[in-house]
Amino acid sequence: MDLTGKVLLITGASSGIGAATAKMLDQDGVLFVLTGRNEQKLGELAAQLQHAVFVAGDITDPSLPERLLQAALSNFKRLDYVFNNAGVMHIGNVEEADVEALCHMVRVNFEALVRVSYTMLRHMKSQGSGFLINTSSLAGLKTFPGIGAYNGTKFAVEAFTDALRMELAGSGVRVGAIEPGRTDTGLFDHWPEEKRFDPAEGMLQPEDIARCVRFMLLQPEEVLVPRLLVVPSKQPR
Ligand SMILES: NC(=O)c1ccc[n+]([C@@H]2O[C@H](COP(=O)([O-])OP(=O)(O)OC[C@H]3O[C@@H](n4cnc5c(N)ncnc54)[C@H](OP(=O)(O)O)[C@@H]3O)[C@@H](O)[C@H]2O)c1
Repeated sequence: MDLTGKVLLITGASSGIGAATAKMLDQDGVLFVLTGRNEQKLGELAAQLQHAVFVAGDITDPSLPERLLQAALSNFKRLDYVFNNAGVMHIGNVEEADVEALCHMVRVNFEALVRVSYTMLRHMKSQGSGFLINTSSLAGLKTFPGIGAYNGTKFAVEAFTDALRMELAGSGVRVGAIEPGRTDTGLFDHWPEEKRFDPAEGMLQPEDIARCVRFMLLQPEEVLVPRLLVVPSKQPR
């Protein structure tokens, strides 16, 4: 498989896993539509890439998916791949959880992913080719005390992804999920110190996830890696 000239939309591109994936696939000659809220970071990233445009916006804005599709079509005439990756992680025990933040997380991690998916899949199905990769998590496979709402969003991503995979089998459009374990990004920056992960239990780098996304995209058309779980080798859970 050759990724040269393929057009990839990345949500959550302004930092962490999304930004690392853009930088890695830039070496393959991929063309990018990048999105996130932070316009400055998107601009800085786009300037480092060979071919990239960006559309700054909140992923929960229902008008954004169509604008992203149009950005791909007007700039690059096509859309081949989508990396549905924007996400937040709010946690907290029953007494302390910020319920409004949890409900907003549901909108970012699942509702927005659903909106982006249908907009892009309708286009890809009509062109008879495409690849949608959703960012799930180890937390989409296993529950942990105190992160139930985050678990819920990622279990939902898993269910949605697998149902789409089956629905689209044979259409030329492939759907899969990447399932990162703990990865050193800004996702936990707002957590209190005592909730942070123990570094002795290992931490992936965003480039480790980018390499796995690239692996999924590089499979020949008749092959699909529907789920790819990647965790630090030292992680005991
Ligand atoms: N880090 C981990 O250990 C880990 C493990 C498993 C799964 N994941 C998943 O990996 C994905 C990427 O996270 P990350 O670890 O790379 O963290 P990150 O560096 O914080 O990246 C999150 C991205 O999501 C975007 N985003 C958040 N809220 C948004 C909103 N309302 N509208 C538009 N964009 C929004 C952010 O962009 P702006 O701030 O510019 O809006 C940012 O680009 C998430 O889905 C996360 O759940 C991470």
